[in-house]
Amino acid sequence: MLSYAAKILDGKALAQKIQLQLKERIQALEPKIGRPPGLAVIMVGDNPASAVYVRNKERACEKVGIASFGRHFPTQTSYEELKQVIEALNQDSRVDGILVQLPLPDHLDAVALLHTIHPDKDADGLHPTNLGRLVRTESGLRSCTPAGVMRLLQEYKIELSGKHAVVVGRSILVGKPLALMLLEENATVTIAHSRTQDLGSITRQADILVAAVGRPNLIAADMVKPGAVVVDVGINRVEKDGESRLVGDVDFNTVAEVAKYITPVPGGIGPMTVAILLSNTVESYEKKVLG
Ligand SMILES: NC(=O)c1ccc[n+]([C@@H]2O[C@H](COP(=O)([O-])OP(=O)(O)OC[C@H]3O[C@@H](n4cnc5c(N)ncnc54)[C@H](OP(=O)(O)O)[C@@H]3O)[C@@H](O)[C@H]2O)c1
Repeated sequence: MLSYAAKILDGKALAQKIQLQLKERIQALEPKIGRPPGLAVIMVGDNPASAVYVRNKERACEKVGIASFGRHFPTQTSYEELKQVIEALNQDSRVDGILVQLPLPDHLDAVALLHTIHPDKDADGLHPTNLGRLVRTESGLRSCTPAGVMRLLQEYKIELSGKHAVVVGRSILVGKPLALMLLEENATVTIAHSRTQDLGSITRQADILVAAVGRPNLIAADMVKPGAVVVDVGINRVEKDGESRLVGDVDFNTVAEVAKYITPVPGGIGPMTVAILLSNTVESYEKKVLG
């Protein structure tokens, strides 16, 4: 095992701890509620990466005691058909969370479909109502990946108030909601994206640097302030020496020599995303019954 200057922010270990806590919470609630929590993961088409993510989510559900109501539809499934499925799940009292695995095939309007999920069952926190609540700093279901980043930073007691956080990436899935969550914790937030000029001059100012881009090794050591906290959200599949493996957006080996804390890929934000998804489902379950 190589040793680095930076301390690892171990998302895998924290995700396991959260799952154990959820399992105990479910065991305590189930006798009162009379059923387990339920999560429906909807997958359309045969994207191999999505198939792996869906399987991981269903396995994690099984481990903690959440019932899966997942359904897999062929690529050519129509918008109307999926809308009807979601509407039925909205009405199904056994289902507390509904998730549409993205990306969807090109003929389907993902945004319109996400709108059809009831905001109280929006386990992925991507419905406009829940994103609006985030903007207004009201409580609500939060998007899983950014919430996973925040929970990991909290676990390691990373100070955010007054710190400069730079988020590279401005997607609705990760970058934008994460920037709002960091702002909520009183960080001074800069968002960088593909049109940002001289990215390194921006990232070098970051006390907390988050990469959510989807470009292998975009963030090199000379783009990182010594002692910074570096969070790598990126998941990129690359071929090396005839083998396929997953890497993040951060050049881990060199950046780990200058950063104070760093997340690995895999084993960083990926497992945290799943843990928050389960946690959101249990939150909806609990809320329905306990108010
Ligand atoms: N760990 C997890 O659980 C998890 C969950 C979700 C996503 N991810 C991963 O996170 C990464 C980002 O996902 P996403 O859904 O946010 O991707 P996305 O929708 O493709 O957004 C990528 C963002 O990166 C920006 N960008 C692209 N090239 C850039 C560059 N050279 N310099 C600076 N910014 C650049 C884009 O800028 P513009 O807006 O200007 O185009 C965009 O805002 C992907 O690798 C994805 O697989 C991981």
